[in-house]
Amino acid sequence: MRVLKSFLAEIVILLFVATGAAFAGGQTEVKPSPSAPSGPIPSLAALYKPYFPIGAAVGDQLLDQEGPFIASQFDSLVAANDMKWAIIHPVPGNKPADYNFAQADAIVAFAQKHGMLVRGHNFVWHQQVPDWVFEGADGRPLSATKAEVLARLKEHITTLIDHFRGKVYCWDVVNEALSDGDHVWREDSPWYKTAGTSSKGDDGVPDYIIKAYEYARQADPNVKLFYNDYNIESGPKFEHALQLARILKAKGLLDGIGIQGHWQIQSVDPEAVRHAIDSFAALGLQVQITELDLSVYRWGDDSSLSSLPADREALQTKDYGELFKVFREEGAAGKLTGVTFWGVTDADTWLNNFPVGGRTDWPLLFDAKLRPKPAFWAVAKW
Ligand code: G3I
Repeated sequence: MRVLKSFLAEIVILLFVATGAAFAGGQTEVKPSPSAPSGPIPSLAALYKPYFPIGAAVGDQLLDQEGPFIASQFDSLVAANDMKWAIIHPVPGNKPADYNFAQADAIVAFAQKHGMLVRGHNFVWHQQVPDWVFEGADGRPLSATKAEVLARLKEHITTLIDHFRGKVYCWDVVNEALSDGDHVWREDSPWYKTAGTSSKGDDGVPDYIIKAYEYARQADPNVKLFYNDYNIESGPKFEHALQLARILKAKGLLDGIGIQGHWQIQSVDPEAVRHAIDSFAALGLQVQITELDLSVYRWGDDSSLSSLPADREALQTKDYGELFKVFREEGAAGKLTGVTFWGVTDADTWLNNFPVGGRTDWPLLFDAKLRPKPAFWAVAKW
């Protein structure tokens, strides 16, 4: 009887998923989302084994709370915050006491215990980096010389790569160095301001970027080095990312591109994503989707919903289904080598605080009670 109930529930869900495809025009004809089927759900990691690892961004607290569930659904982890400079290396210096490895070590230990991969995130970012990195001897903001900043960068990268050697298989060496606007580079980054000049022959790539990859390569020639950014699948930022990738690859400094995948329902274009994956892969690089989530709010929409409307849930289901079809095809072709969600459930998403503080969003595959949403089934059944 239980099996029959579960079977019927899945049929209902499949019908729901199928109907979702008819709502691109925004007309609401769908019923509220079906309740989750009882009994165990399939493991995404197991289903996607033939294609690529399925990852999630976590913190050590989330692992304490939801460890068994996370280990059942994912075979790759990334620290959402705990390997970032401000958390892992909050004070100047290179003594053990200057680093805070506790939370990151807990994530790595969990991954090892469960046979999961770990992505490293990140060395160079304009956020979550302490002010001291850019302060000179006078203690004023951004008064450090380029040589001082680069020496700190080298020490930081070398220490982290040494610490996680053999446990972290790839690093987002530089994160989000490209501008969203007319300029190529993010010029308001403290990295750009202090170490952003370009040496001769480097085609205008800021020195801190080239140096970060050189330091990482020197520290471990085997660990895979990625450039990671958002909105690099189309428009000028795609062209800029492609050019940066070409230059780093030609120098032997780059192994992969992370397309973050912070998208919104109805505006994500799976064919543009496919084209971007193909283009980066044609350079001889791995490509991964590194921070996947699908907000149910359009970009620029500051409104706040108290529950997830059925039509938006159907659109999200449809978009996830279409994206994963592309992902499977690109994975089978050996071009896409990983897909990581930025969070596990709708309760722990960063989008509940961004771009509107305190607003609820529903961007992931599991609801706040760990129940699979219709989007889960669009990804799990094909
Ligand atoms: O840990 C403190 C807590 O002690 C304090 O009470 C609380 C009050 O605000 O803040 C907590 O820190 C927060 C931290 O996340 C941990 O939850 C920070 O305020 C908050 O700014 C920080 O946000 C992180 C964000 O990066 C920073 O911009 C998100 O969790 C993290 O998911 C997000 O991740 C980035 C990727 O690294 C790069 N790509 C974009 C992505 C989303 O912004």
